[in-house]
Amino acid sequence: MEIIKVNNYEEMSKTAAEYIIRKVRQFPEATFGLATGSTPVGTYKRLIEDHRENGTSYKKVATFNLDEYIGLSGENPQSYRYFMDSQLFNHLDIRKENTFVPSGSAEDLAGECRNYESKLKNHGGIDLQILGIGNNGHIGFNEPGTSFLSKTHIVDLADSTIKANARFFNTIEEVPTQAITMGIATIMQSREILLLASGEAKADAIGQLLGNGVNEQFPASVLRNHPNVKVIADKAALSASKVRV
Ligand code: F6R
Repeated sequence: MEIIKVNNYEEMSKTAAEYIIRKVRQFPEATFGLATGSTPVGTYKRLIEDHRENGTSYKKVATFNLDEYIGLSGENPQSYRYFMDSQLFNHLDIRKENTFVPSGSAEDLAGECRNYESKLKNHGGIDLQILGIGNNGHIGFNEPGTSFLSKTHIVDLADSTIKANARFFNTIEEVPTQAITMGIATIMQSREILLLASGEAKADAIGQLLGNGVNEQFPASVLRNHPNVKVIADKAALSASKVRV
């Protein structure tokens, strides 16, 4: 695992965006795995700026998002489909039909999980996966205790995740309690992974990630077994880590 230490959120976003832009230019048909949440917003802003200013094209790119809330349709402003459209896709020349987010409003949710896996397989898998990290070590919505062998599946969100995500909703009661998420095995099949972390709130999680041990109670620790992971973290996020970077 390579650790790239940066000063703050802005620098993390710039470093991640530059990395993604290089990938798209070298490999215009790349398939990206994408995350929602606060962490990648600054990165997405920079991709949009670069697209406007330098014309980097996403016409041949495909994207697969990590997760979606169950019970919310893509028109719901709290859904991750809506988030991705408004924060990124609507501002690039990417073809909407090449942007995949699991459907949280599918009637057959188990079928939706299987479908998502086969679509991903048909696209040849993920070249570069962007990840954030939950305070409890979740990646995607794979909460502590999730099997490392899991594929795309339905999860009950941990109370701490519901609390953390309540900031996007009017009341905590509105936060869905279930989601569809790519599994840990799905994420681990990505050829390359970029995990982003910023701020003191992530310090303990990053400390554990960079500490010792791989175990299912701390899902992100599985990344220690992946041959090609870069962690772009700012000073605050690295403040509880013992490793020297
Ligand atoms: C989002 C996702 C989550 C977030 C994590 C951190 O698609 O998969 O694992 O990356 O909850 O969220 P933020 O960035 O809001 O701190």
